[in-house]
Formats: sequence, structure tokens, C-alpha cells
Amino acid sequence: MAAFLGIDIGTSGTKALAIDESGQVLAEAMQEYPCHHPRPLWSEQDPQDWWQATQETVRRVVHQAQLRPEEVQAIGLSGQMHGSVFLDSSHRVLRRAILWNDQRTAAECEEIHRRVGSREELIRMVANPALTGFTAPKILWLRNHEPELFAQVSHVLLPKDYIRLRLTGELATDVSDASGTLLLDVAHRRWSTELLERLELPLEWLPRCFESHQPTGQLRPEVAQQLGLSPRTIVVAGAGDCAAGAVGNGIVNPGVLSTSIGTSGVMFVHCDEVVVDPQGRVHTFCHAVDGKWHMMGVNLCAGGALQWFRNQLCQALMAECRLSQTEPYAVLSAEAERVPPGAEGLLFLPYLSGERTPWADPAARGAWVGLTTAHTRGHLVRAIMEGVTFALRDSLEILRSLGVPVQEIRVSGGGSKSPLWRQIQADVFGQEVVRLEAEEGPAYGVALLAAVGAGAFENIQQACAQAIQVAEHLPHDPQRTALYDRLFELYRALYPALRETFHALGQ
Ligand code: XUL
Repeated sequence: MAAFLGIDIGTSGTKALAIDESGQVLAEAMQEYPCHHPRPLWSEQDPQDWWQATQETVRRVVHQAQLRPEEVQAIGLSGQMHGSVFLDSSHRVLRRAILWNDQRTAAECEEIHRRVGSREELIRMVANPALTGFTAPKILWLRNHEPELFAQVSHVLLPKDYIRLRLTGELATDVSDASGTLLLDVAHRRWSTELLERLELPLEWLPRCFESHQPTGQLRPEVAQQLGLSPRTIVVAGAGDCAAGAVGNGIVNPGVLSTSIGTSGVMFVHCDEVVVDPQGRVHTFCHAVDGKWHMMGVNLCAGGALQWFRNQLCQALMAECRLSQTEPYAVLSAEAERVPPGAEGLLFLPYLSGERTPWADPAARGAWVGLTTAHTRGHLVRAIMEGVTFALRDSLEILRSLGVPVQEIRVSGGGSKSPLWRQIQADVFGQEVVRLEAEEGPAYGVALLAAVGAGAFENIQQACAQAIQVAEHLPHDPQRTALYDRLFELYRALYPALRETFHALGQ
């Protein structure tokens, strides 16, 4: 038997899984680690935690699936995008990685636009504007704020590529994850020497860039031995978690779009050609499909908003659920289901971590608007689910306005496990949504890419066609859609009305 591993270096933890040649999952394992917030809206992780979790989860998967070393032919890597791992010339980590949802770099984003000439000029160069979460502004932040560390930098890697270095000793990345550094010439799928020159950053700091299915190296013999694998196992380039998750959902052809409600919310669509939003509200990145692109809108706090609500405001419920062995999210979802659509006049803005699409404003904040004493916990939860879905609809409206075809919407991510949240998505989008048979996320997408890299499939489209099945078509309800259309207009007016207040509060 041939087997392939997928490893996803996520924000809440690392997930590893093994599949066979048909795409069937043989085993999976997850290990969590902390996220550090040394200041409000700062977000950091220790790359050593990722490496420990990788070793642990891979060993568990190999053990559970009873894989013999030579059976595992290839490994695919996926991870949270945009994180910066700064290394010295001996490949030592210089400081904790700064993550995708960290908001410290507003001044550096302005510096990039100034050095390039304008936001529009930057979009012409690399298809995207400078956003606080992206990698390039983090490198400038290090230069501006921690010059003694900056002086020691020899390499800058993305989270999954640091794990590749530990696994194979190779410095490499893939085009989809590289797109999120802001340093890739996205249209030509190579580093932008033009931008690097303007920013006075050396090209040598960046790893070699590959298409997602291409092999980038083999396991170091000592690592192979520790993990119970063969040193002949190849590691393919893999993909950023958004593109990897999309591959796992079969988003590899035009007209098919996916939503993912994890910590962040992502609306992702495949494009055969490079389409760029001239206003830079949605991102245009290289896809994990050879020679193709994708567009996506990202909401920084989606499932993260409900997780915050559960952790901060539902401690008694969590204690009850521990005793009765029930799942707090299921209880909250059931309470929200008893509340009518629109949560009886309650709206929620999910900008708890600032927001990317469509406002690109690190100072944006969360809010419930319309609270009365008649509202219950179920109302608050329903408003969170609806508010997050309105945030996703913002991306959908932009994509539709750019003429990107959207024939099918596939829903995914932890949030979409709730039948209520799936229905809210269909009703808010005003279009049928589709749920997949088995939804395994980014680790599954890169396991398929590993299988392509090892020659088990001709290409990723063929792999997805064979491995991914639709489980359910969920139609929208035209009456509820009419209500949500009206509420969406009210929702949309909230941020512009509150913008000044958010900025004053953040001073
Ligand atoms: C994508 C993004 C997030 C992270 C989360 O641009 O910032 O979705 O990749 O892991």
C-alpha cells in the first residue's frame, strides 16, 4: 500500500493525517499549543511548539494507521499563512513568530506604500495592498523596532516552511503561501525583485519557490528514524492553509467557491486567470493548482467570535457541559435556533481582531447593536452567527461585482459543522450551499498534493474528482433571504458609522 501524509500547522494546533491512494483517510491526530498576546492585538507563537506538535502528531498517525516506513511515499505541508519566522545564518530562530492576526504593523504598511509610491502601484506590482497581517510589513517592523535582531536575520520563513526545514534541511516554499508575504510577483509566480529593492530587503533571505505539488526534498535520515518513516519520503511544496483547505474542498475549477468558518473566515474562489480587485479589498494569490490563481476575502474573527463568547461569557455552561459530557457549541447552537432570523433586531459586528476584508482596518472593533432586556443568550449567539455570515457576504458581493462566476458554494470549517450556521449561510448568500461528505480541511488538501507529487494522480483536479464527494445540497429560503438582504444593508452601514468611534477608542 502507498500512503501520503498531510500536516497543517494551524493557529490553535497542528493536525496530521494519512490517506491511501484513493484519498481515504487512514488516521489523524491533533495537538494544540498556546498563542501568546504580549500586547493587545499582538499575536505570536513559538516555532518550537509547532515542531514538537508535528513530531507528536506524525508519530501518532503512523502508529494508528500501522504504516510501514516505506509505505509513506510523500508528505504535504500546510500552515497558517503570513507568519514570520526569523532565522540567523545557523538556522536558529531569533524570536517568536509574528502571526497572521497580529496588528502591530499599521505604520509599516504605510511605509511600504510610501516607498513604492502608492497603494495602487503596489497592487500593480504584487496584486495586493499592504495589510497588517502580511509578512513584508513584519520584516520592516523588525527593522524599525528590534534592530539588533534584524541585524542577525539570514532567512525569513513561513510557518509550514520552518517545519520543512526541520524535516528536510531545505529552505523552500510554495507559490500560494509565498503570495501572502506580499513579496511575490503573483502574476508571474516568482519573487518580486522590484519590490524587494524598494524595501531594501535581500532576495537571499527568501526560500526557493515551487508549485504546490512539486517535491522540495526528502526527510533527513535522523528525522525519518524518529518519526518511523523512510529517508526516501519526499516532502512536496504544499500550500498556505487557505489554498490547502480549498483543495481539500475540491475548489480546483472555475465557478466553485468555498467558505470556511474557522478562527478566521475565508471566502475562496478558483480563477483560471489573474483577476485583481483594483481597490485591494479581496486578495489575489497563486493557487495550489499548477499555473492557476485564486481570490479570497478574509475575516479575521469568524468562529473566533463564538469561541471568545463561549470562553468569556459561558463559563457556567462549560462546567455543566463537562459534567454532562455535552458539547457547549451544540447547546449554544440549539439556543440560537429557537430565536427567529434577525435575532429580533440584534446585529453583531465581528471585528474583535480588527478587520481585513473589506475595510482593512486594524482599529475596527466588535459590537452588538440593538440590545434590549428582551434579548437572551440565544439571541446573542444567533446575532454572532449572522454577523459573521454578513462579513463573509461582504467578500461574496465584491467577487460578484468583479464578475467572478459563482455557480456553487461549498461550506466548510468548524462553524459549518452547525446545521443552523449552514442554513444561515444559504439564506444570507441567497444561494444554495453544498456540504461535502468528509471535510478534513487543509491537512487533507496537502495530503492530496503529496499524492500528486508522488505520481499517484495525474494532477490535483483528478485527485479531487476521485476523492471528494458532495453530501448535501441545502437550498436557501427566499423569505429569509429577503429579510437578510434588508438586514445586510443595515449591517453594512454600521462600520462607516462607528469608524471614528473605533479609532478614538483605540488611542
Ligand atoms: C489568510 C489568513 C488566515 C490564516 C489562518 O490570509 O490570514 O486565514 O491563514 O490560518
